[in-house]
Amino acid sequence: MSAEVIDGKAFAATLRVRVAEFAATFEQSAGRKAGLAVVLVGDDPASRVYVASKGKATLECGMNSFEHKLPDDTDQATLMALVDRLNADPLVDGILVQLPLPKHLDEQAVVERISPDKDVDGLTPISTGRLVLGLPGLVPCTPLGSLMLLKDRLGSLSGLDAVVIGRSILVGKPMAQLLLAESCTVTIAHSRTKNLPEVVKRADIVVAAVGRPEMVKGNWIKPGATVIDVGINRLPPEEGSSKGRLVGDVDFAEAMAVASAVTPVPGGVGPMTIAVLLRNALVAAHRNAAVALADGAI
Ligand code: GUN
Repeated sequence: MSAEVIDGKAFAATLRVRVAEFAATFEQSAGRKAGLAVVLVGDDPASRVYVASKGKATLECGMNSFEHKLPDDTDQATLMALVDRLNADPLVDGILVQLPLPKHLDEQAVVERISPDKDVDGLTPISTGRLVLGLPGLVPCTPLGSLMLLKDRLGSLSGLDAVVIGRSILVGKPMAQLLLAESCTVTIAHSRTKNLPEVVKRADIVVAAVGRPEMVKGNWIKPGATVIDVGINRLPPEEGSSKGRLVGDVDFAEAMAVASAVTPVPGGVGPMTIAVLLRNALVAAHRNAAVALADGAI
């Protein structure tokens, strides 16, 4: 038997269409477009690609995109001053500072400076606290996108056993909180977890976010489980090829033989991240401009 491949690319495309529709009605109500500011410090090639695609996607769904590219040797005070300016700018609804920042900068201090009302990454302590307390707030994009895929496939998640592998601030921890809020029984596994295959074997839902290529094997997975693979890893190039293959944290072929549904890499969780970023920016815009938006509308 072969599992269903969860088509994150198609789901993200549908979400982006919905965001564009709400962006248009927002513009009519507020008398201005929603706006997302993205800050990039330095010229890390991967970050440049991400920032360019975020900017393009923002414009495509009818929002304003404000890109701030700062040199690698930008000092802390300059970056903090830019965040302050964006916090105060009424045309900016969301602020994303692309991570990682160059080593000489204090990343945590920069993130904490972002107004929680504009924190489209959901990374400030206030946003994190709201998530843990079950209060309305902005939630990190990749875990929220993963949750949307799970709910689309499974409906109610109540009572299901979920294992999240990885405890990062960006994915593992917020993912666990989101699953808990859906009344899953949640286990957070990590590099020190004993008997990881046995822990994973209990799960109806497996979310892998560790950054280790094809680490989760088919015989770790409970038959019929739903598997969300957040990893994006590039393997070393094979002979005669300049670029290695992209793989997730899950052995996809093996998982497909055991699970009931699996997200592919690429084309699974990845496309959801930007779509949810746009959604978060628009949710922030409605709140910032006091334009009503029904809970869960986008
Ligand atoms: N770098 C890699 N992923 C992300 C993300 O989701 N947000 C930010 N700000 N930086 C990132």
